[in-house]
Amino acid sequence: MVRKYLSTLISWGRPGKTVGSDARLMQELDRKRLPKHIAIIMDGNGRWARTRGLPRAMGHRAGVESLREIVRTCTELEISVLTVYAFSTENWRRPQEEVDVLMDLLSEYLRKELDELHRHGIQIRPIGRIQELPPGARDELERAVRVTGKNNRLILNIALNYGGRAEILDATRELIKEATEGKLHPDAIDEERFSGALYTRGLPDPDLLIRPSGEMRLSNFLLWQLAYTEFWVTDVYWPDFRRGHFLQALVDYQGRDRRFGGLKI
Ligand code: IPE
Ligand code: IPE
Ligand code: MG
Repeated sequence: MVRKYLSTLISWGRPGKTVGSDARLMQELDRKRLPKHIAIIMDGNGRWARTRGLPRAMGHRAGVESLREIVRTCTELEISVLTVYAFSTENWRRPQEEVDVLMDLLSEYLRKELDELHRHGIQIRPIGRIQELPPGARDELERAVRVTGKNNRLILNIALNYGGRAEILDATRELIKEATEGKLHPDAIDEERFSGALYTRGLPDPDLLIRPSGEMRLSNFLLWQLAYTEFWVTDVYWPDFRRGHFLQALVDYQGRDRRFGGLKI
């Protein structure tokens, strides 16, 4: 147990298993046809820890390193928007101890990374029912939003206390409020107007959704926005997810035939 634990600690510093060579994948990529918006369900932290005989909290902590690497890669590739699913409206069902770990990790991530994120021109936007998060996490988020608000190299949406259904309900309430105040005619509510009331207002829908750890479900993520998004699923757990896996997803994406219900001319 102790040896297993130590070897895990040591291996954290090393890159995870990559698919092919990163350099070759980089060469394969057409830099002009990269997705503008990528969404990731950061899943599998618990299973990653379990396979190593570690507490789940260690899996969550290890997952932060993957986030760092993927954010770095996005800025390098000049991706415009990255949306990561960090905590769902359903994740409150987990034991209080695990919820506390996740909230503390969020605060720690923001505290430690904010300067670097800011230096790289990253704008942080929390999406979800942020007002229901614990005050400590909320304070860090508010600071991050204030500091990075004018950055425009990469928009990093962090989905926290996020639910696709909750988002649709919140948008519906906002529109109904405007309508009852006489500022909006019901006939004026089209897809564009509705999108404009979502947490992701003003942003393009994701072109690519990545889900590590093999689950084939949305788990209440971006239900409206994913209507025509390309999916890429891997069995690799999020803490093992590295630049090479990300590049592989991008290469696969570039081979997709996106028709949006039409026909290829
Ligand atoms: C993702 O990893 C993190 C959150 C959902 C907050 P999990 O904790 O869901 O890991 P698994 O799915 O149990 O392996
Ligand atoms: C989705 O993962 C939520 C996040 C990654 C934040 P879950 O682990 O909560 O999803 P289910 O329960 O397997 O569907
Ligand atoms: Mg999970």
